[in-house]
Amino acid sequence: MEENKIALITGATRGIGKQIAITLAENGFDIAINYRKENEDLENTKKEIEKIGRKCVAVKGDVSSYEDCENFVKEVIAQYGKIDVLVNNAGITKDTLLMRMKKEDFEDVLNVNLVGTFNVTKNVIPYMMKERNGRIINISSVVGIAGNAGQTNYSASKAGIIGFTKSLAKEVASRNILVNAVAPGFIETNMTDVLKDEIKENIAKNIPLKRMGNAKDVANLVNFLASNESSYITGQVINVDGGMLM
Ligand SMILES: NC(=O)c1ccc[n+]([C@@H]2O[C@H](COP(=O)([O-])OP(=O)(O)OC[C@H]3O[C@@H](n4cnc5c(N)ncnc54)[C@H](O)[C@@H]3O)[C@@H](O)[C@H]2O)c1
Repeated sequence: MEENKIALITGATRGIGKQIAITLAENGFDIAINYRKENEDLENTKKEIEKIGRKCVAVKGDVSSYEDCENFVKEVIAQYGKIDVLVNNAGITKDTLLMRMKKEDFEDVLNVNLVGTFNVTKNVIPYMMKERNGRIINISSVVGIAGNAGQTNYSASKAGIIGFTKSLAKEVASRNILVNAVAPGFIETNMTDVLKDEIKENIAKNIPLKRMGNAKDVANLVNFLASNESSYITGQVINVDGGMLM
């Protein structure tokens, strides 16, 4: 169990981010999350974390807005005084072939996934530098490594996150701040729910472990990277994909 530690997880009102917040809370972290709109998802996440006996601070803000990130990070610091772990998880897809992709589809995905990762990290890092301690875990994707037809925008954003992770890991290692990326494969969430059952079954068939992953599979890895057990790991991209990419 971790004690007196604070984790900020972006995009944690549902899906993988929510499961990361719950798993870290179960491991003793107090939690901060951001949200864009007050809704049932947000209330449920807060309730589930509080039921575990940990605090959950929820702050409003869109990761693609630098100003929002400046404000919500300040608010988290005002409430907790520090941030030990940052998980850049918020992400979107706008899939279509490049031939049909609008400029806005490309920009929106880059702005949330990649620029959003910059916006939040840039505002959190001064506090980690001051503490000479920190963990940053960026949620990339196997398609950021392998590419995927219909996802030029998304793959570019997730590949960008890998470059960002490695460069930052080199910049801040001397301050005892560890920066890693997690690359999930095909995980059952709302993001993948849009696919037809037939397509999902086909993908699962080609995964060595013969199943889609679940949010807990990803959260367990993030929990390890956030813990004291991983203190000699930085600048890495770790796949959690059932062996999809080898
Ligand atoms: N599901 C998968 O198979 C899979 C695979 C690889 C990587 N990932 C990545 O994992 C992360 C979580 O995905 P998920 O499957 O849980 O998706 P999801 O759509 O269920 O959840 C995404 C979360 O991000 C939040 N979000 C989106 N845009 C935001 C913004 N501009 N500002 C703040 N919050 C915002 C949403 O509100 C939501 O809470 C994403 O980065 C995604 O790219 C998912």
